Amino acid sequence: MPPTPSAPAFVLARPKDAPLDPPPLYAQLREEQPIARVSLGGGRLTPWLVTRWEDARTVLGSPAFSTDPTHPGAPNDREGQRQGPRGFFQNFDDPIHATMRRTLTREFMVKRIDALRPGIARLTDELLTGMTELNGPVDLVKHFSLPLPSLVICELLGVPYEEHAFFQEQSKTLVDRTATAQESAQAIANLGEYLLSLVPIKRKSPGDDVITRLAAQADEGVITDQDAADLSAFLLFAGHETTANMIALCTITLLQNPSQIPHLLGGPAQVAGAVEELLRYLSIVHFGLRRTALEDVTVGDVTIRAGEGVIISLNVANRDPEFFTTPDDLDLARANARQHLAFGYGIHQCLGQPLARAELQIVLPELFRRLPGLKIAVPMEEIAFKQDTAVYGVHELPVTWCPWPPAPHSPTQSKKREQPSCM
Ligand code: HEM
Repeated sequence: MPPTPSAPAFVLARPKDAPLDPPPLYAQLREEQPIARVSLGGGRLTPWLVTRWEDARTVLGSPAFSTDPTHPGAPNDREGQRQGPRGFFQNFDDPIHATMRRTLTREFMVKRIDALRPGIARLTDELLTGMTELNGPVDLVKHFSLPLPSLVICELLGVPYEEHAFFQEQSKTLVDRTATAQESAQAIANLGEYLLSLVPIKRKSPGDDVITRLAAQADEGVITDQDAADLSAFLLFAGHETTANMIALCTITLLQNPSQIPHLLGGPAQVAGAVEELLRYLSIVHFGLRRTALEDVTVGDVTIRAGEGVIISLNVANRDPEFFTTPDDLDLARANARQHLAFGYGIHQCLGQPLARAELQIVLPELFRRLPGLKIAVPMEEIAFKQDTAVYGVHELPVTWCPWPPAPHSPTQSKKREQPSCM
């Protein structure tokens, strides 16, 4: 099919009056033209946009598509896109991707992540205690949703949290779609350089952390020191912006759907299901996963030709009524929520998903237990959503909560509390 001159521009912006929903145009495309041409970079490119759940899985699960952003025809918003170091393996196809990913798979095994849960609960408790000691509206992003995953990933990697302002700044640049290819390459280099300086330090004084174990793999010749640094840099970045934005957006979503909150305060299975539904509903990686066809492939009714670019819209696919009933409703008891595509699908499916799940399962119930009567301190229209970033979220979230009764410090204590009168 030739490119359509009237291909609609691919935009990320979610509607102002429904900021948690995908752009309505794409929901319409999903119904009328599930694989459609869109225009990118001011019409420079017209990749295919995939919006149905089933088609999204077909493309993401197929070895006929490459993630290499330097492939001619790759659907890049900006020119001069680089592939970066191979430690940022999301931009590489197999076998390089598989070799790099394999060095980290043990780190994210469910058993290993489960062992981190008490530490995550402790950090959650400390941050919430800190919040309850502050007066007036408190910015949840600054005091809770950003520091929590940042502290967790720093502990996991063995990186000093004191440097968090530097990590957060580089991570911000990496998700900023308005940053130039040069700025983004510089942020990757800055992170890589800093982490490379830690590799010999870890060799001298090993810790129970990822950098120490990557340094050992470098000693065995599996990877180089630079790989160890870049792999750590990639995790540092991936572990920052994603979960942090998810915590803040989940808070807004739950406050907009208060009848669902008790569901989140149920047993572990109920909480796990609730988190899956929030992941589906919000689908924060909303810039669309980008691929290029390596050969002709037919998906649905369309033949995508070798060399053509494809954008897979996770947030629109996760609202596909063919797969999820009443998809625009938040239903924390939804039976098939776990089949969402918020973590992607196929060989590049999110490596950190057991960690993200553990964080959300611990943090969200605790936030609502410890801060009864939690509410947003400004009108919804005043909340600045991150419309130009690859990962959706909010810049700030001022909140207040009931000052009475005083917040207890242990989760067991908090379960026994009565609902405060100011709810
Ligand atoms: C709610 C939180 C998160 C969401 C929604 C999320 C989402 C995603 C998605 C959609 C992909 C697939 C990209 C693609 O196919 O091109 C991905 C890949 C990845 N994620 Fe996450 N992520 C989250 C948290 C994390 C965390 C906490 C880490 C690590 C600390 C992490 C590490 C990675 C890595 C290493 C990849 C690349 C996998 C590969 O290419 O093989 N993510 N993530």
